Amino acid sequence: MTRPQVSGGAAPIDERHPPIKPRRVAFDWSETPLHWVPGDPVATHIINSFHIVLPEGEKWFIQCVKDARPHIRDERLLEEIKGFIGQEMVHARSHQGVLDQILERGGIDVSKITDAAGRGNAERPAQMAALKERNPRAWRRRLRFELAAVASIEHYTAVLGQWIMDNDRLDKAGVDPTMLDLLRWHGAEEVEHRSVVFDVYKAMGGRYPTRVAAWVVSLFFLYWALIGGSLYLLKQDPTIKKRVTPLRVYRSYRRSVRLGHVPGIFRLLLGEAPVYLKPNHHPSKVCSTPRALEYLLQSPAAKAAGYDPY
Ligand SMILES: [Fe+2]
Ligand SMILES: [Fe+2]
Repeated sequence: MTRPQVSGGAAPIDERHPPIKPRRVAFDWSETPLHWVPGDPVATHIINSFHIVLPEGEKWFIQCVKDARPHIRDERLLEEIKGFIGQEMVHARSHQGVLDQILERGGIDVSKITDAAGRGNAERPAQMAALKERNPRAWRRRLRFELAAVASIEHYTAVLGQWIMDNDRLDKAGVDPTMLDLLRWHGAEEVEHRSVVFDVYKAMGGRYPTRVAAWVVSLFFLYWALIGGSLYLLKQDPTIKKRVTPLRVYRSYRRSVRLGHVPGIFRLLLGEAPVYLKPNHHPSKVCSTPRALEYLLQSPAAKAAGYDPY
């Protein structure tokens, strides 16, 4: 296959359905400090909140898509699902590495949260099987709602992925290069597969009202995960001697946003409402696949994984 043009000019790729294949990356965290955004523990721990929720969160995404898969007839979407599952499995494993190595080495234990999420994931298949047996319509309704929630979260992971690929202020701030590569590689793959869950939701008969309701629930979840996760991490951080109060954290957060270390979370999450809630919205209309492929071709971890999609 001809290598696509990845910047400038018309890219000869299908923006809506790029080839989706997992890249078997690995990261060495031996040199990464606890505060991997130098001198900015608040920005570090805001982004670390994603490391807490993503390993089990992405396993849940996979479960939802696997439940829908036997009901999908579109061959192309089935291929996309295969790629999506492979990518999310590698993402979950990679973020777990951050928890097991960087946070644990720094004296921060998040197992209370991750164990509870893991139990939820372990119990879900049996719950869904029992519901399908007892009431197939209720099973379908629940699965559709979960797929709509995952599609909303996938919108945000793609938008955040685009933000982190485009943000060169993180390089200037001296962010640990291994962490920056993990975040950008993950962000780029999120942009690459951003349409899959949305298309699965549609293929399962998902309609607009459920998409809106699930978006509202996802938005609350994301605020809770980011705010609660950051405070939890900052309170546990043994290097922070001052008392962690919401006001102090908020002031530091405003500074981190000004410096470009984190996006303005409140504006970003709510600001996407007019985009995501358009009745004719499709993920292919946001973010840039050529930009994602451009990063994936230069990502140290993706290159070391030896995978060349073309
Ligand atoms: Fe992911
Ligand atoms: Fe994803």
